[in-house]
Amino acid sequence: MIEINAIKCHIGGMASITIRNLDESTKQALRERAARNGRSMEEEARLLLAELEQGAGSVEVAASGRPQAGPAVAARPSPEPAISGFPAAGKRVLLIISGGIAAYKSLDLIRRLRERGVRVRAVMTAAAQQFITPLSVGALTADKVFTDLFDREDEHDVGHIRLARDCDLVVVAPATADLMAKMANGLANDLASTALLATNRPVLIAPAMNPAMWSHKATRRNAESLRRDGIHFIGPMAGEMAESGEAGEGRMAEPMQVVEKIGELLDTRPKPLKGKRAIVTSGPTHEPIDPVRYIANRSSGKQGHAIAEALADLGAEVILVSGPVSIPDPKGCEVVRVESAREMQRMVEAALPADIAVMVAAVADWRSKGEAKEKMKKEGGKGPSHLELTENPDILKGLGHHKQRPGLLIGFAAETEKIVEHARAKLERKKADWIVANDVSPDSGIGTTEGGVMGGDRNRVRILTREGVEEWPELTKQQVARRLAARICDHLAAVTATA
Ligand code: CTP
Repeated sequence: MIEINAIKCHIGGMASITIRNLDESTKQALRERAARNGRSMEEEARLLLAELEQGAGSVEVAASGRPQAGPAVAARPSPEPAISGFPAAGKRVLLIISGGIAAYKSLDLIRRLRERGVRVRAVMTAAAQQFITPLSVGALTADKVFTDLFDREDEHDVGHIRLARDCDLVVVAPATADLMAKMANGLANDLASTALLATNRPVLIAPAMNPAMWSHKATRRNAESLRRDGIHFIGPMAGEMAESGEAGEGRMAEPMQVVEKIGELLDTRPKPLKGKRAIVTSGPTHEPIDPVRYIANRSSGKQGHAIAEALADLGAEVILVSGPVSIPDPKGCEVVRVESAREMQRMVEAALPADIAVMVAAVADWRSKGEAKEKMKKEGGKGPSHLELTENPDILKGLGHHKQRPGLLIGFAAETEKIVEHARAKLERKKADWIVANDVSPDSGIGTTEGGVMGGDRNRVRILTREGVEEWPELTKQQVARRLAARICDHLAAVTATA
């Protein structure tokens, strides 16, 4: 049993937990516990302090005045992530910052990772410190920043080998041409390159350099060697460079793109839909009247996009056919953008065959008969007194009767009255397996402050199957999506079991 207070008494500051000041028996107990948990002694001590703080109020940790080592910060347990559901939440990233103008992006990267519950420990090269300071990096990681290979205290507390392995992923952002060259050739003459040679964890690099350097034969060769060695890449991207007048391929990927890649690489959640292909439709359709006007509806695409992402999260290959929306693309899906119902139908049918199809789009039932080639004018009373409409194809019904009918075909039913009765009729008419029925009437009482179900963030649905009706409580659209994806998994597992 470690006497936590003994550790507490000997703390010189979070920037440097001076383990060697502990008495021998505490040190030995800490060593054993750290070894059991696969952590460094320093990290183990930090966690113990965090536990103490959680259980018994606050632990005051004094600042050590060590220069170079980053700011002194209070030992705090990892806060609840501000953004939940990130696949890498709770994981540890060793972020190596090398020297380039893009180093400023690493500060934002740290923030985005920490708000998603990722623990970040940083190493900075000497050149990186010409662009940003260990003080700002340490303030954002709330941890010590490692800068020196030959730091006696760091080597005693952590050691560069342990530093390189006490993480789930090593991320180099930005990765300069120089650091890539060192990595490709196995050089280890500073802390960053030594950690990269010593690590046994996956490595992701976000290259950032002048376009001429990125396209230089030597860099191409190094990038190729690194790819062959199994190093993961994000970017570089094309565009304007920070140096004035320079443009081309070489920009560091944006912090959120790096975050997404990290989420992908560290996602260890089970993937029960791996090997399944799903088509999802989402959003409204726009039916042109003339070159500037169209018929549309209030669908935001939030529910359809959330379902596409939830299926992708469970490992399905998802093709999302989306009408015009102003929300971001869901992660992990192939997105096909369309405008009209006829275009949507073409792209859905082009995506067949599929194991699962979820038709969430609020497809316009009618379109203008004969789109005017020129803008209709109102002058002189020559504008149309009425619009002649013609019916659009029913995409869901088309799939229900298709020779490549998806194995599980799910439709939505937006109703304002007699919800179950109307939804049941749709199930039969369109030959769907399930209908997800929702009440979109303004007096449904759902999301009243956001303008109702259409456009809002919440939904209350009923699932109609051939066996009966399931009533789900009011949930966020994300929750509905995750629950529906789980329900789809259960169904497919049951089908496989009885086959
Ligand atoms: N749907 C479709 N193609 C259409 C109309 C609807 O694929 N042209 C799909 C929707 O994506 C949804 C389901 O059919 O999955 C039901 O849509 P909804 O608008 O509720 O029903 P409608 O068939 O349009 O019937 P009504 O307007 O009479 O309620």
